[in-house]
Amino acid sequence: MSKPNIWQQLKRPIMVQAPMADVTDAAFRQIINKYGKPDLFFTEFVSADGLMHPEGRKKLLRELYFVPSEKPIIAQLFTSRPEVLKEAVAFVETLGFDGIDINMGCPDRGIEKQGCGADLIKHPKLAQELILAAKAGTSLPVSVKTRIGYNKNEIKEWAETLLETEPAAITFHLRTRKEMSKVEAHWDEIKIPVELAKGSKTLILGNGDVSDLVEAKNKVDIYGVDGVMIGRGIYGNPWLYSGVVPSVAEKLKVLIEHSNLFWDLFGPTEKNKELFGGHTKSFAIMKKHFKAYVEGFVGASELRAELMQAENAEGVEEIINRFLAEAKFLV
Ligand SMILES: Cc1cc2nc3c(=O)[nH]c(=O)nc-3n(C[C@H](O)[C@H](O)[C@H](O)COP(=O)(O)O)c2cc1C
Repeated sequence: MSKPNIWQQLKRPIMVQAPMADVTDAAFRQIINKYGKPDLFFTEFVSADGLMHPEGRKKLLRELYFVPSEKPIIAQLFTSRPEVLKEAVAFVETLGFDGIDINMGCPDRGIEKQGCGADLIKHPKLAQELILAAKAGTSLPVSVKTRIGYNKNEIKEWAETLLETEPAAITFHLRTRKEMSKVEAHWDEIKIPVELAKGSKTLILGNGDVSDLVEAKNKVDIYGVDGVMIGRGIYGNPWLYSGVVPSVAEKLKVLIEHSNLFWDLFGPTEKNKELFGGHTKSFAIMKKHFKAYVEGFVGASELRAELMQAENAEGVEEIINRFLAEAKFLV
């Protein structure tokens, strides 16, 4: 029996937190969830091939971990093998996700070499086979996140190809593979799939360069998209979806909370052993968060430099607390 389709259940426009590997991990998502919940979360992308391998699965469960309050949440997978995807989605369904998304936009050479991510834009038939295999393997809604073309803009043909398989939603990162993230997102192009999808059950979402909810709603008004996905706008700003503007002291306290949570889940802790069998993540992943939270106030660059040297969450807490005690003007 088919499960309720989260994409159809959510009130439009749908504001979605974009997947970002080693950024929107379970720790950061819990922080975002607490300070400004988006309508929908995505996990970081996960290899379906790895998931179907017993050793790989143990490690990847880290990327598929979420707490119930994060729901609704979509698991994003990548592979170029339809038969593997069919099995992987059936497994992922048992973990309690609300949907499955197939990554067809990642420009990473290592991913592309496996025929995955943006490489699929060059292989439309295989892309269709993947969507159909995923749909056959799960009763969850299957969506796609992709770009507008490979070397050149081919959004019309590409959208038509994808729409033939009736995915629940397509999110277009509005750049080609070749453009990476180097040029401004071509928002005007989203009009094409929006028009093509009219009368179908497929939702169309736009993504690229949106930094806050005002801008996102503006895109909805201009382009008639069903939703907007925001990526880098969340860096250092877990209040993005609530519109709250925190004080510097509040921000720094949340950075402590974030770093403690990261350590608890991914550091060499009892919890990590229990949840992920000791598969830890490097604490260096937190560095990009230090940069993002700690900027725009007196003493920020010195504080940032100190945090970069921290080896664990305890160190981070100590450094920030000392800074706050000395910089009383911030509180
Ligand atoms: C560090 C980083 C990691 C990313 N990881 C993923 C990923 O795992 N899956 C995916 O579909 N897109 C990934 N993306 C792309 C983003 O989801 C998004 O499409 C892109 O950043 C453009 O949106 P923005 O301008 O709002 O950031 C990643 C982007 C960044 C910067």
